This record gives sequence, C-alpha cells and structure tokens, in this order.
Amino acid sequence: MKIVVIQGPNLNMLGIREQNIYGSIKLEDIHEQMKQLAVQNEFEIEFFQSNLEGEIVDRIQECLGDANGIIINPAAYTHTSIAIRDAISAVQIPTIEVHLSNIHQREEFRHKSFIAPVCLGQIIGMGANGYRLAMMGLMQVMHEVEAFRQAQINGQKDKVEVDK
Ligand code: DQA
Repeated sequence: MKIVVIQGPNLNMLGIREQNIYGSIKLEDIHEQMKQLAVQNEFEIEFFQSNLEGEIVDRIQECLGDANGIIINPAAYTHTSIAIRDAISAVQIPTIEVHLSNIHQREEFRHKSFIAPVCLGQIIGMGANGYRLAMMGLMQVMHEVEAFRQAQINGQKDKVEVDK
C-alpha cells in the first residue's frame, strides 16, 4: 500500500526559515524519518514538494488509482486554496493534513483551513513529529480500508458460489 506525502510552498526552506516556529530540521531529514517508518511497516512512500498551487493539484489528481493515502501540508495554501480542497475531495483518498506549527496560536489569517473539512484528520503543533503521527493514524486506516475491501471481495465470491 502506498502513501504520497505532499508538501506546499516554502517547506523546502525548512531548516532555514523561521527556526523559532518551524525548528531546525530540514525537509529531507523529515522525509528520511518517514521513509524509515514506512519501510518498518511495509508501506510504499513517495514525496513531493512544490511552491505552485497547480502542481499540487496535479499531484493530488495523480494519486487516483495509485495511492491509498495522502499526507499533506499545504503550507500557506491551507488558508487560501479552494482548488487544493476540491482536488482532495475529488480523489476520495484518506488524507491527513499536517502543520508543524499550531496554526490556531498564530495570526488570525492562519486559523482558517480550507482543507480540513475534506480531510480525515489534522495534526498540528507537533513539529516534525507530526508527520510520523499522521503516518501512524493513516496506516491504521489504510489497513482497515483494505480489510473492508477484501471482505467485500470475499463476500461477492461467496455469493457467486451460492448462486451456482
Ligand atoms: C504551516 C503553517 C502555515 O500557516 C504556513 O504558511 C506554512 C507552514 C505549518 O506547517 O505550520 O508555510 O503549514
């Protein structure tokens, strides 16, 4: 099963930008930690970062039929992008929204997330650890979705057997 991790604008600057808010860890190190957790749990994982809204929309659309779960930090687009929200809603793949900082403790314009209503859950304010917490929740849900899907397939098979 595959998780796609999507990182929005300026997250490529982690380790340089506002360390008092986002910490000193670099994005590649966060991804390395996530990769290790994925390998331990036998999940596939892919990473994508873009500073462009349309590229993020495209990457979400590409998840259709390919990924079983999405972890997204849309960064500043969280507070502005109906296009990203619509893309998540369109693909119907379990998605967790992550923010390193607690957006509710910050400026008023960061309190609103256009993304949250179409996500399964949100992890905020836990710094870089939030990404691994999101993975743990998402992997659990992905197992449950897969078990349900298998049960449906088996149920269909049993029905065919009875019909025969
Ligand atoms: C952020 C919070 C956003 O408000 C901000 O624009 C970011 C990072 C976070 O992870 O805390 O770029 O998404």
